[in-house]
Amino acid sequence: MAKQRFSGKVVWITGASSGIGEALALQLVDEGARVIVSARRAELLEKVKARASRPEDVALLAMDVAQTDLAKTYVEQALAAFGKVDVMVHNAGIGQRSLVSETPLDEDRRIMEVNYFGVVALTKALLPEMKARGGGHFVVVSSVTGYVGTPFRSGYAASKHALHGFFESLRAEGHKENVAVTIVCPGFVDTDIAIKAIERAGGGEVEKTATRAKANAHGISAEQCARVMVDGIAKRSREVYVGGKEIAGIYARRYAPGLLARMLRRIETV
Ligand SMILES: NC(=O)c1ccc[n+]([C@@H]2O[C@H](COP(=O)([O-])OP(=O)(O)OC[C@H]3O[C@@H](n4cnc5c(N)ncnc54)[C@H](OP(=O)(O)O)[C@@H]3O)[C@@H](O)[C@H]2O)c1
Repeated sequence: MAKQRFSGKVVWITGASSGIGEALALQLVDEGARVIVSARRAELLEKVKARASRPEDVALLAMDVAQTDLAKTYVEQALAAFGKVDVMVHNAGIGQRSLVSETPLDEDRRIMEVNYFGVVALTKALLPEMKARGGGHFVVVSSVTGYVGTPFRSGYAASKHALHGFFESLRAEGHKENVAVTIVCPGFVDTDIAIKAIERAGGGEVEKTATRAKANAHGISAEQCARVMVDGIAKRSREVYVGGKEIAGIYARRYAPGLLARMLRRIETV
């Protein structure tokens, strides 16, 4: 039997219809949590609920995080599910696989709407309730790219960097009121995020197949990623780095930025 570190806790996870969010939802239920799963594809959320070890402890909340005008409504719906939200995991996100010179401004805006403003809007809508209840915990899924801007990821890197700024401020502001922040920086994780980004950039089957092969070769599984995240969330860690050797990029950014810049120049494929 899994540890029960989340017994009595309610965790709300966005982007729980696939990939990292799905794996995290299933593991948190195993650890005793009641979990609200959100994403746009309601039919996939149903499948996550059906796979959970205690389906009765999984509530579905279909939503589009980019609809920031609905953030308060989404929060009300989430609170109605189990009466509270102890931990909010901002995991929903979209990727990017295109050069600065080939990315229309609308795509930069779209990435910011989903990866940044969607997160900010939900946080602001939930924060008063968390404070009134004596505190809470925001878990933000950033990326190694939240520290290191790499080729083909300009808008994505910008959105993840922005999350660090926002949540470092909230961490400092929220300390006295027991509002904690954990920023998670995964490296390569074998999910469909890159394939979806190639599709948005107009790429074809050849690129998608190559990207899938690369994800399998380089990435840890979503389940491995979720396992490390669950530990970090339970400990309320300030930051969690999870992945393979690419995690070294975060340290290189701090301690050898010139060397890292020279290495990044050499990346020529998506
Ligand atoms: N995979 C990696 O290598 C990697 C590395 C670093 C960080 N990350 C981060 O990890 C997080 C999860 O990504 P993943 O790799 O697990 O990819 P994924 O399988 O594509 O999952 C992305 C999730 O976000 C949801 N989503 C996307 N747009 C949404 C919207 N507008 N409203 C609500 N939900 C939305 C998707 O659900 P619907 O399509 O059903 O809405 C899906 O559940 C992202 O924040 C990503 O940036 C991933």
